Amino acid sequence: MLNFKSSTLEDITALLNIEKHCFPIEIQFTKETYMSLFKNKDNIIDFIMYNDEAIGVVAVAVRKYTGIFFAARLCNLAIIPEYQSKGLAKQTLEIYLNRLSHFHHVFLEVEMNNEKAVRLYEKCGFKHYKTIKNYYGLNKHALKMKKVFPVLNVIRAN
Ligand SMILES: CC(C)(COP(=O)(O)OP(=O)(O)OC[C@H]1O[C@@H](n2cnc3c(N)ncnc32)[C@H](O)[C@@H]1OP(=O)(O)O)[C@@H](O)C(=O)NCCC(=O)NCCS
Repeated sequence: MLNFKSSTLEDITALLNIEKHCFPIEIQFTKETYMSLFKNKDNIIDFIMYNDEAIGVVAVAVRKYTGIFFAARLCNLAIIPEYQSKGLAKQTLEIYLNRLSHFHHVFLEVEMNNEKAVRLYEKCGFKHYKTIKNYYGLNKHALKMKKVFPVLNVIRAN
């Protein structure tokens, strides 16, 4: 069964281990990246758990100010290979988008050639709005995508 567990600074080794299984070395989150995410207590850095085993990570940086509303950045979503293509990332994303629906929008960057991730985000309502050339290295371009929530649910920044 799918559930989620918040992580703490003490979990950095386990988080880095998931990174190693899911991403090429040049784009893995480092210890420093996680330490800086942990500095803001409002950020979300959760293990994706399946039958009590940590099988992935979801990370969200919150309180990005945009005009009069807040936005959230989905900084990481990864499922270890043994558990991929079972619909677990989609279920996870739907749950977290629901949790974040009081933000004006959620945005993310994804490598253009990461078809599986791009398709997942599109299925969950994200739209491509910008391309950043060479963001992940030479000829590795990023798509910036965002999902905007209905304004009625949104909490204003004041
Ligand atoms: C991208 C990732 C999170 C997807 O996780 P997942 O659990 O395998 O995805 P799901 O099983 O929930 O599938 C979600 C959607 O992806 C698509 N998908 C699934 N398997 C696919 C495949 N083999 N080829 C292409 N698309 C596929 C489908 O559209 C699927 O939706 P559907 O089940 O409604 O048809 C996972 O592959 C991963 O961790 N990759 C490495 C890290 C990464 O690239 N993260 C994204 C960073 S931006």
